[in-house]
Amino acid sequence: MHKNYFTELEKLLDNAQAPYSGFNVAAIVITRNGDFYKGVNVESAAYPTTICAERNAIHTAVTDGMKKGEVKEVHILARNAAQALIKAHPCGGCRQVIAEQSGNDAVVYSYASASLIEPHTINELLPFAFLGADL
Ligand code: THU
Repeated sequence: MHKNYFTELEKLLDNAQAPYSGFNVAAIVITRNGDFYKGVNVESAAYPTTICAERNAIHTAVTDGMKKGEVKEVHILARNAAQALIKAHPCGGCRQVIAEQSGNDAVVYSYASASLIEPHTINELLPFAFLGADL
């Protein structure tokens, strides 16, 4: 059974910088050896340079020395501009990165509340993933 990270995620939401969308996202990544990495979305006035919470957490893990394929779990919570907690699923770009950085077997936990948590395998979220084997 995975650990419940609701308390940590809710606190982390306050660190997100989302002045344009008002949509704060927090992500926690757990690696196969049990390491823990946090990420939030950081928006830019040049909109495409915004970084999502999930990729921020994964790229921090890589920066810290995590090897490719070592992501085990991704936990996500979001809060919209009206301050309501929202269950969020990763965007397409983050699904690609999660697939590659987990060896295509991560479980993504989308939190709606402290007790309502929806798990999906990355394979469900991104079927037929392009993993670069043919490059
Ligand atoms: N966002 C994330 O951080 N993760 C997701 O999975 C969905 C979208 C961010 C990007 C942008 O700052 C805001 O949410 C609205 O799209």
